[in-house]
Amino acid sequence: STILVLHGPNLNMLGTREPGVYGHETLADIDDRLRSKAADQGHHLLHLQSNAEYELIERIHEARAEGVDYILFNPAAFTHTSVALRDAMLASEIPFIEVHLSNVHAREAFRHHSYFSDIAEGVICGLGSQGYDLALEAAFQRIQ
Ligand code: DQA
Repeated sequence: STILVLHGPNLNMLGTREPGVYGHETLADIDDRLRSKAADQGHHLLHLQSNAEYELIERIHEARAEGVDYILFNPAAFTHTSVALRDAMLASEIPFIEVHLSNVHAREAFRHHSYFSDIAEGVICGLGSQGYDLALEAAFQRIQ
């Protein structure tokens, strides 16, 4: 099966961006680890980070056409703002898990609302990059 990992804006800065909140690992560290875990299970893992809403939307449209089976999605700041990305996920009909590195509920009030949580199969937040690993484990089981 094919799993797509989507990372929203500013996540390309991981490693140097507010390390107290987001940790010291880079996005490449995380993607490499997920790709090898997926390969171990016989799955194909694709990933994209973009700072542009339209690129993420177009990638989600392609994912539907391509037959992607599952998405792990950290929409980053778009979590709290983007009806357009929500609509893209609904249109794709691809099941997904929403992931956040930080515990958004322990932060500013504007991070408490997500445009994705009610349409996600599950939500993981506050566990740092391990959240992606846990989401991937869940995806393996849900794909079967
Ligand atoms: C984030 C949380 C968001 O509120 C924030 O805008 C991000 C990252 C996280 O992974 O903790 O950019 O999605």
